[in-house]
Amino acid sequence: MRLPIQTRLRNGTNVLIRPLVPDDAQFLIDGFERLSSQSRFQRFFRPVSRLSGALLEQLADVGHAGHEAVSAFAFADGRMVPLGVARYVRSPSNASTAEVAITVVDEHQRTGLGSLLLRCLAYRAKVNKISEFTAHVLQDNAGMIAIFRQLGSTIVPTDDGTFKVRFTIPEGITALSDDASPKDLFRRVSEDQLETRSRA
Ligand SMILES: CC(C)(COP(=O)(O)OP(=O)(O)OC[C@H]1O[C@@H](n2cnc3c(N)ncnc32)[C@H](O)[C@@H]1OP(=O)(O)O)[C@@H](O)C(=O)NCCC(=O)NCCS
Repeated sequence: MRLPIQTRLRNGTNVLIRPLVPDDAQFLIDGFERLSSQSRFQRFFRPVSRLSGALLEQLADVGHAGHEAVSAFAFADGRMVPLGVARYVRSPSNASTAEVAITVVDEHQRTGLGSLLLRCLAYRAKVNKISEFTAHVLQDNAGMIAIFRQLGSTIVPTDDGTFKVRFTIPEGITALSDDASPKDLFRRVSEDQLETRSRA
C-alpha cells in the first residue's frame, strides 16, 4: 500500500491520501479552521483558537523518520481541501515505539476516514521499523477510543483524566488492497488482524 492513494469515503467524497510535507503548513491551518472547538480540545487537550507559531512549526516539521504524517484531501473548485491528518512522533527513549494522533474535520467524521488514515500511517511506521503505537486520549473521546478498541489496543486509564493506549502494528499491514472502500479496509484490519498475505 504505497501512498498516494485515492478512494471514496462513505459519504461519497473522493479523497487523495498522501504524505504530509513541510510545505503543507497552510493546509494544516485550513484544516484546523474547519475543526469545532470540541474537536480541537480533543486533539490538543486544551482550548486552541488559532494554529500558529511554535505549534504550527511543530506540526509541519514532518517527513523524517522520527515524525511522519499522512493527510487526506478532497478537491473542490479546482482546489485541494484538507480533510484530515494522522501523525506519529517516534519515542526518544524507544525507537520502535511512536505516539500517534489523528484529526478529521468535523464535516467528514464518521465516514471511515480516521480509521483509514491510521492504517496508512501504521504502514508508513512499519516501514520505518516502528512496531508499536501509543496514544493519549481524553476519556470522553468515544470515537478515538472506539477505533483503538477495534484494533485490539490496550487501553488503561491514567490519573490525569486520559486513557493511555498501546497497540502493536500487525505484520500484515502491507497486505490490504488499495481498491476496497475505507470501511472494508478497516474491517479487515480489525477482523483479520491484518493477515499476512503478500501483494507483491
Ligand atoms: C477521533 C476521530 C479521529 C475519528 O475519526 P472518524 O473519521 O470520525 O472515525 P471513523 O469514521 O473512521 O470511525 C470508525 C469507527 O469508530 C467508531 N466511532 C467513530 N466516531 C465515534 C463516535 N463519535 N462515537 C462512537 N463511536 C465512534 C465507530 O465504530 C466508527 O464506525 P461506524 O461509523 O461505522 O460506526 C475524529 O472524530 C476526530 O478527528 N476527532 C477530533 C480530534 C481527536 O479527537 N483526535 C484524537 C486525538 S488522539
